[in-house]
Amino acid sequence: MNFEDYQKKYRLEFCKFTEQRNSNRRLWNISDETASFIFKLVLKHKPKNILEIGTSNGYSTFWLSLAAEEVDAAIDSIEVDESRYRMAQANLLNRKNVNLIHGLAEDLIPQLTEKYDFIFIDAGKIGYVNYIRLLENKLNPSAIIVADNVISHRDTVRDYLDYLQNNDLFETETQNLGSGLEVSIYNPNSNEES
Ligand SMILES: C[S@@+](CC[C@H](N)C(=O)[O-])C[C@H]1O[C@@H](n2cnc3c(N)ncnc32)[C@H](O)[C@@H]1O
Repeated sequence: MNFEDYQKKYRLEFCKFTEQRNSNRRLWNISDETASFIFKLVLKHKPKNILEIGTSNGYSTFWLSLAAEEVDAAIDSIEVDESRYRMAQANLLNRKNVNLIHGLAEDLIPQLTEKYDFIFIDAGKIGYVNYIRLLENKLNPSAIIVADNVISHRDTVRDYLDYLQNNDLFETETQNLGSGLEVSIYNPNSNEES
């Protein structure tokens, strides 16, 4: 099924997300354009393990979960705010491939036992560079890392962009859609190839 088919199939669930967003300005859900992009990227790259940092009420997680179901992947998603974490729990009750984790990403990432093939970063912008540093030994070769808001918050995520752009282990480019997405590929063998 494509993105539009899923929008129709899960109309009631998406109406609920819209209602929540309209009554709570502090959910900061991704745009449809970004949702469609990450949905298609998961279908294309067929990751097995996905990590999301910044669940909020679970809107982006829902899209990741739909794509993950098609490629038989599992998702861990981290959220520090208790009320948004509880909303996500309720919104994702029927999504069997999602594991929600409550806490601070900086504390939790070192405790994760999985290695990941796909990461979606959409949490505190100032923390982006810390997340990627902590994540480096949790990435499988060819892992894709997508970070949101890199154009809307370019100054705040400058360290993150500098880190990736000056690191031989990553190929990275900025996509001008939604709030700006940095899409990076982890290639730990790049030094051997050159
Ligand atoms: C932009 S919102 C996430 C929106 C969500 N990805 C979506 O599109 O539905 C960012 C979320 O990250 C959470 N957050 C911020 N800093 C965090 C941290 N250090 N660890 C875990 N969660 C964090 C915030 O509480 C907030 O709910």
